[in-house]
Amino acid sequence: MTANDPSPNHLQLTRDGQLRHFLTLDGLDRALLTDILDTADSFIEVGERTIKKVPLLRGRTVVNLFFESSTRTRSTFELAAKRLSADVLNLDISTSATSKGESLSDTLLNLEAMASDMFVVRHSQSGAPHFIAESVTPGVAIINAGDGRHAHPTQAMLDMLTIRQHKGRFEGLKVAIVGDVLHSRVARSQIRALNVLGVDEVRVIAPGTLLPKDVESLGCTVEYDMARGMKDLDVVIMLRLQKERMEGALLPSEREFYRLYGLNQDKLALAQPDCIVMHPGPINRGVEIESAVADGPQSVILNQVTNGIAVRMAVMSMAMGGQVAERQQKQSKGAQA
Ligand code: CP
Repeated sequence: MTANDPSPNHLQLTRDGQLRHFLTLDGLDRALLTDILDTADSFIEVGERTIKKVPLLRGRTVVNLFFESSTRTRSTFELAAKRLSADVLNLDISTSATSKGESLSDTLLNLEAMASDMFVVRHSQSGAPHFIAESVTPGVAIINAGDGRHAHPTQAMLDMLTIRQHKGRFEGLKVAIVGDVLHSRVARSQIRALNVLGVDEVRVIAPGTLLPKDVESLGCTVEYDMARGMKDLDVVIMLRLQKERMEGALLPSEREFYRLYGLNQDKLALAQPDCIVMHPGPINRGVEIESAVADGPQSVILNQVTNGIAVRMAVMSMAMGGQVAERQQKQSKGAQA
């Protein structure tokens, strides 16, 4: 499976530009990304209430389909759906019929037959959520929770919300993404979001073996030297070494990687004094980040996790709204014909 269409907006947007699936940030404009951030902002207060619920998805069924492991994304999608009052089904792939040889398409047909309204999909194959969105019953929304090396759009949006909360703006910011960009769906979605939202510079800092070919074409500058790369930064985003996706020896050793590219207090001191430190998780202490930095005053790593709930509430409610609007448009056209 591949994500062949670089701008799949015929799939993820309604004719009047509302979200109906959320597959990638490619092709989405600043107004829509800002709408997601503003909607997420409005949901933050829900998480601070005693009764953390709004009725926007009451009576709807959300199915979490995670074909790859996850802690943060899966649990925050589940919490987000529950805070929107949806019924949530977490399919355990290891005990489901897919482990007995049932195809993905047949599993989905069975779940659609249970009148599901939304599938949240994580898959090791790039393009899997796109493939599902192309074939799913009209009215069912597909949300990408991370596919292969391709995209992790809700992660990028919760990162953007965190940056906006701490910096108050995107204009003028210098942001670096450090480490294993080659295998990172998160980095691809972040680079896209940062460019659309108008930061001054997106810089990737990594050894050449951990950068995709023509990485600059994604919309970033490249720095191989960490000390030079840290200069003037407002935001530094560390990435995990994704060993599960590495083929062959791309690094001399973890110890060498940490010496050259690990974020410690000395390297952080080279950035702006109010530079924030981010990481999508899971973090590997002593591999890409020092504990004193991960737990230090400039770290916003746990704010990112909290913001994941509000961003996922925003995306799920907007996609369901788009599906409803589309169905109403079709019904009114049918009545006129
Ligand atoms: N950031 C992220 O996708 O983490 P999980 O793999 O735990 O969901």
